Amino acid sequence: MKIDLTFTSSSFDELQLRDKNIVVIDVLRASTTVTVALANGAREIIPVGSIESAVKISGSLFGEVTLRGGERNGRIIEGFNLGNSPLEYGEATVRGKSIIFCTTNGSVAMTKSRYARSLVIGSFVNLGTVVKFMEEKNEDFLLLCAGRLNTIGQFSLEDAVCAGMMVQRLEAGGNAKVELTDASRAALALYKAHGRSILKLLKNCEHGEYLAEIGFESDLKLCADVDTVPVLPMLSGTVIKLRRDEQRPENADPTAAGRTSGV
Ligand code: MLT
Repeated sequence: MKIDLTFTSSSFDELQLRDKNIVVIDVLRASTTVTVALANGAREIIPVGSIESAVKISGSLFGEVTLRGGERNGRIIEGFNLGNSPLEYGEATVRGKSIIFCTTNGSVAMTKSRYARSLVIGSFVNLGTVVKFMEEKNEDFLLLCAGRLNTIGQFSLEDAVCAGMMVQRLEAGGNAKVELTDASRAALALYKAHGRSILKLLKNCEHGEYLAEIGFESDLKLCADVDTVPVLPMLSGTVIKLRRDEQRPENADPTAAGRTSGV
């Protein structure tokens, strides 16, 4: 199994990603939010690449069962029901809902991967479940880090470290013969350098600092909690759903009050 990796998704188009097995990683916060929303009973996530597409698609869907979620510069988009904080995607809000999802980098990377052979959404909160899926599939994978808040696609340390932790788990698991590229080796090295405290990493990385500045510091704690939302969001047709055989884990709502952190 060859594990390749890209540190931003900006230089790829849909055709280059066609027929690959892809893990889209946007730790802060799109991947975490999608994972939490589906674990909390959302029916499906419909990723879109632009606000215009979100408006167009939601016009043809029934308002009662459809929500619009997403951000620009980290904040809720005008006219949307939800922003991109995973804490907004609690069970009472999302159960049974289709969520049209538009974010600066994460949903764009998901949309670009729509012709993938398989596409799963990865973050720290469901890392072990993603790694298990990769081991079971035992095919080549591309870890597609979404990168950061702008149009040229910048490197995001938190996405690279998350990808590196996946590589480390795959190697340590010994369940598959893992071949690395220079990029996946670099991510592994970053995980070894920064993976001791994921919460500290998220507090000190550029986007984490920005989110704290605009009032989303509590998102960092949720996003840092490794393996707390053990579900697998995956592409099914044009939407993202939980893998078919998955049940919502008992007491899984990480947005509920009184929850303690393991990291
Ligand atoms: C993105 O897609 O760029 C993000 O998830 C930004 C954020 O809301 O933190």
